[in-house]
Amino acid sequence: MAILEVKHIEKHFGATQVLKDISFSLEKGQALSIIGSSGSGKTTLLRCLNFLEKPDHGIISVNGNVIFDAQDSSTQLEKEIRKKRLHFGLVFQNFNLFPQYTALQNVTLARELMAKEHGNETKAEIEAAGMALLEQMGLADRAGHYPHQLSGGQQQRVAIARALALHPDILCFDEPTSALDPELTGEVLRVIRELAEKDTTMIIVTHEMAFARDVADHVIFMDEGVIVEQGDPKEVINNPKEERTRHFLARYTEG
Ligand SMILES: Nc1ncnc2c1ncn2[C@@H]1O[C@H](COP(=O)(O)OP(=O)(O)OP(=O)(O)O)[C@@H](O)[C@H]1O
Ligand SMILES: [Mg+2]
Repeated sequence: MAILEVKHIEKHFGATQVLKDISFSLEKGQALSIIGSSGSGKTTLLRCLNFLEKPDHGIISVNGNVIFDAQDSSTQLEKEIRKKRLHFGLVFQNFNLFPQYTALQNVTLARELMAKEHGNETKAEIEAAGMALLEQMGLADRAGHYPHQLSGGQQQRVAIARALALHPDILCFDEPTSALDPELTGEVLRVIRELAEKDTTMIIVTHEMAFARDVADHVIFMDEGVIVEQGDPKEVINNPKEERTRHFLARYTEG
């Protein structure tokens, strides 16, 4: 059974339709890459999955349960959205760490707030889990540093640890390396690659074509709000069937 099923999602901003009949599914443990030009709707799609935008049409299911149905307002209750959001972790292009908190506090904060509500974990347990995640990201020695004391690549790895701390079913990345200098891109791609090797279920919006081809199990090419082509990344990227895909990819192979 697919861990994520997206059916017929549509989204307008005013008169502009930015997502048109988007349907796809994702299996547990697989990595999906989404590629496409600027303005094609990639970020909007991730924001819809994370309940940061509300689709005008369509259904989103996680583990076989409908978590959003545009036709059914009982799936859109404000008080349940916070809980449903926990299915997804989101890593942004610009890291979006809390500047007033250390790396470790950034990772533990959400879980501490949840523990306050539910009393299910002690602060010490949460901190130990947070340290283990920072260690996994190669940042054990940076736990006490504030975001401004970290490089962009280190900040992004803290952001990944923060997203993992809540054990999302699906980890989403929105161009995780496009704000980084080339020499820092590699360290972030490396940890994402390690997560893929551990069968973390992921959706990665990226302009790194070689990375999408080598790490993802499936790729979606979007253009002007539609899925133009999807399939095995090696097939789609090395041997695109659609003219629009070829045109897009040509930009990455020239020069
Ligand atoms: N809040 C908004 N209000 C109005 N229009 C929006 C809003 N957010 C996005 N758009 C428009 O929706 C379209 C899709 O934007 P989106 O950010 O999803 O594209 P993208 O594929 O992520 O592009 P990029 O590669 O530049 O990040 C664009 O035309 C954009 O201007
Ligand atoms: Mg975007």
